Formats: sequence, structure tokens, C-alpha cells
Amino acid sequence: MFRFPDLKEAIQDFLSCQLAISPWLVSPETTERFDADLFHLINNTAKEFERLYWSYGSAKFIVGNFPLPERIVRTAIYETIASTAIQNALLLRGEFFVDETLILQAIHTTETFIVTRGIETLVGIFALVTSYENHLALRYYGQIPERIFNNGEWHRPWIDYSLSDELMLGAVIGSIRIKITNGIRMVELTECGIELLQINTEVLKLSGYVDHRKNMLQIAFLNHLEDYEELELSLIPQATHIRRDFLEWITISSGIQVLEVGCGTGTFLFSTGLAQKIGARGHVTGIDPATGMLAHAELTRRLYGIEWVDFQRADVEHIPFSEEYFDACVGVGFLQYSDLPRALSEMCRVTKPGGFIASLHPLEPEHLPDFYKTWFEPVLDLDLKLESFGIHAFPQSNEVEATLTQLGNTQIETKEISIYLDFRNPEMATEFFIYGLGVFQDLLAQVPWQARLDLIEELKQNGRSVLEQYGSEALIFPIKLQMVKAVKI
Ligand SMILES: C[S@@+](CC[C@H](N)C(=O)[O-])C[C@H]1O[C@@H](n2cnc3c(N)ncnc32)[C@H](O)[C@@H]1O
Repeated sequence: MFRFPDLKEAIQDFLSCQLAISPWLVSPETTERFDADLFHLINNTAKEFERLYWSYGSAKFIVGNFPLPERIVRTAIYETIASTAIQNALLLRGEFFVDETLILQAIHTTETFIVTRGIETLVGIFALVTSYENHLALRYYGQIPERIFNNGEWHRPWIDYSLSDELMLGAVIGSIRIKITNGIRMVELTECGIELLQINTEVLKLSGYVDHRKNMLQIAFLNHLEDYEELELSLIPQATHIRRDFLEWITISSGIQVLEVGCGTGTFLFSTGLAQKIGARGHVTGIDPATGMLAHAELTRRLYGIEWVDFQRADVEHIPFSEEYFDACVGVGFLQYSDLPRALSEMCRVTKPGGFIASLHPLEPEHLPDFYKTWFEPVLDLDLKLESFGIHAFPQSNEVEATLTQLGNTQIETKEISIYLDFRNPEMATEFFIYGLGVFQDLLAQVPWQARLDLIEELKQNGRSVLEQYGSEALIFPIKLQMVKAVKI
């Protein structure tokens, strides 16, 4: 069976240069990427790089003796520049709008990678990643009409070229076949294709690509939310009180150095009052991976005129500070998005001995109410359909405490509070669950573009039917929140 060459290390390098080949990386709502001038700039650069760096002999590194589709080199360069510029717009500015400066930066980074790693590496990564995307979509749908596959309508709708070359390559290497069903030419995976997808998934997981892809999608989702606080209050009417209780409970002194992880739009900092409590003699740094949310937080900081708070874009698994930097490291509602052991270990690392770590987070519900199961059935079913991808669930009741103990902390205190989620507004509840809470992020990242949009629509529709069926009084979902505080030894 055909296998791609081992590209794990090359992909790690590719990602660490902040490059992207991300056929999925566009705004959740629009498939348009560039105006005509920017398109020509990228396209002409791609042609130029192909002329400068590609030679016929390079092809043999990519798919062995199989014929390489003619347009693939130019497309690989085009997609790398385009996706990198979009990724950087999302990361640096929290939006999908791309201008010439971002394109020129992406052109520069792409050329540096080509010069240092070789153009065949770039084209190889492109072939592997696009094969993964195509195979993922075919596994999800089972069969895709050839015409729809070729114009990428369900899984890569923004492309301005036909995928017939990629289909041909799949057919030649034996992973994809055409089958006539009811007189229509349908594309489907072969047994080999299923195996190839498993192998590719493994390589892409080991190289960090799958996690990166999921995180970028989550950031796109979070940045897409118009007003996080309004949405949260419609679902969790007690949110304001709970944050205040948490701030009281952790008994934090003024004048100290604090890190808030997953600070989002700055609600805990400003409206709850962490920043005011720390005061001008101390300092708070807020980190969050979603730039759109940080931009909102920075605006609020200015409105409050608070000078002793700053923000950095970072995730809790990679806190950009040295050991024992802060007196306290706190966070609200971020743990369900993160890799829990890594997150807590990083928080401990940057906290001084004698300082503390604290988190407020939802706990995994003991059971799901019937109305919730009916409403979210399409996405709960995905877990079965996609087999190996489990739901990235809320922490279990003793999980955080046990991890903090393992990490060598002391004086661990916990407090649980029962609250309810109010599901009476089907649109807002769906938006909050999908875009805001990150409950289904691992699953949704495995779903092709069009299917994801269809699922979200279906969930909204289900919400409206559930509201009619159960009546608004029933649409209350009790969950528990947990406060945890531990002292670093
Ligand atoms: C539910 S919001 C809570 C925001 C804020 N703490 C508050 O109380 O309003 C979750 C936040 O976690 C952030 N987040 C997601 N993944 C993260 C990660 N790996 N590390 C740190 N924060 C993350 C999101 O961007 C989002 O801003």
C-alpha cells in the first residue's frame, strides 16, 4: 500500500515557522478569501516560486513513482501563502481580513521554508494534508458525488481550481474509487483509503498538526462570537455572582504579580474586579489564544483606565514566562479547552513557592437530561460515527485535585456549586455550546466544512423543536461548577 514519506519532523518545522496549509482555515461563515488584486499577487508569486525552485526531478520525493498532478506545485505554494496569511490575520488581529502586508509576510516565510527545507518538502506536506482532508470528508459522508467532490463544495468550498487531479492521484494510489450509484458517479474510500487515513492521521497527530488544526478552528469559533458576555449571561444567568464568589473565595492580596490564564474578554479582570483588587502596586497579565477576545479585553482595560494589566496571546499549555515568575496563577472557565495535566503543570511552573494556583471550571455532568440528548443527538452521535475521537469533556469531580496533588502542591481546597444552564433560547444555546464552550470541539474538527454548518443549523432547529416538545420550563440543565485552589510548595 502507498505511504507518504515520513514528514513528521518537516511538519513540526513547518508549524513552528507559523506556516499553514489549512484548507479548513477560513471564517466559519464565509468562503471568500481575497479580492482580485491579492489573488493575483499570491498566484503570480506561486508561479514565480515554481519556476525558480521546482525541477522535474523533485517529483520523485513526493509520491514515489506515482505521477504527480501537474498543478500541485503551484497550488501547494498558493495555499501555503494564502492559508498562512489568513492564519496570521486570525492570530495577530483576531479576524479573517487579510491585507497586502500579511500576504507579503506569508510570501517571505514560505520562501524561507522552501529555501531551507526544499520545495519537495513543502509539496509533500501539501499532498499529505490535502489527502487527509479529502479522505476525512469521504469517511464522514461515505460517498460524495464526483462533481461535488471535484469542486470541493462540501469540504473545501473556497477553492478556485478543480480537485479532479487529487481525485486522480487517489485513484492511482488506490485509496479512492469511483462507484456508480443510481446512475451517478460517486467517490468513495477503498479499504486501502481507510488504512491510509489511519496512517496519515497518526503522522499528523504525532507531528502536532491535528492539535494545531483543532486549536485554530476553536480560535476561529471564539473570535466569531459577537458578544461572548451577552451569550454567556443568557445561558448562565448566575455567571456574574459566581465569578464574584470565586474572587472572594481565593482571597487574593493586593500588590502582587498575577497571571490570569484564558482571560477571554476580561470579564473576571474588570467587571468581577480582579484587576481592581490587585491594584496599581501589583500587576496582572492576561493570556488567551483568541486574539479577538484579547482585543476586546484591551479595549475594556482602556475604558477602565487601568495601567497595571497587560495581555499576551498564549495558551495555558505554553505559558511564555520563566519558572516561579508569578505570586498567583488563576483562571475561569478555560480548563475544558485545554490539555488538563499540561495546563496545570504549566500554571505550577510559573508560580512562586508559597504562591497559589486557582481555577473555576464546570464539572462533567453525572447525567444528561432527556431534552439535551434529543437536542444534541446529531453531535453526540458523531462520537460513534467518528470512532476514535472522544468528546473533550469537562473535568471529573476529583480530576483537578488529583493532578494538583500529583504535581506536588499542598493545602488543596475545593468547593462545588450547583448552577443551571438556561436553554430557553435555541439559537443562543446552540451558539454558546458550539462556539463558546468548546464542548464538542474535538468532534467538530473532524467534520467537513459543509457538514459542520449543516450540523449547527440542525442543532438550532432541534432546539426549536425541543422547546415546543418539552416547554420552556423544562429546559433547565443543572450542572456543577468547581472552585479549586492549591498552594505551590
Ligand atoms: C469560557 S471562556 C472564559 C473567559 C474568561 N476567563 C471569563 O471568565 O469570561 C474560555 C476562554 O478560554 C480560552 N482558551 C481556549 N483554549 C485555551 C487554552 N488552550 N489555553 C488558555 N485559554 C484557552 C478561550 O479563548 C476563551 O477566552
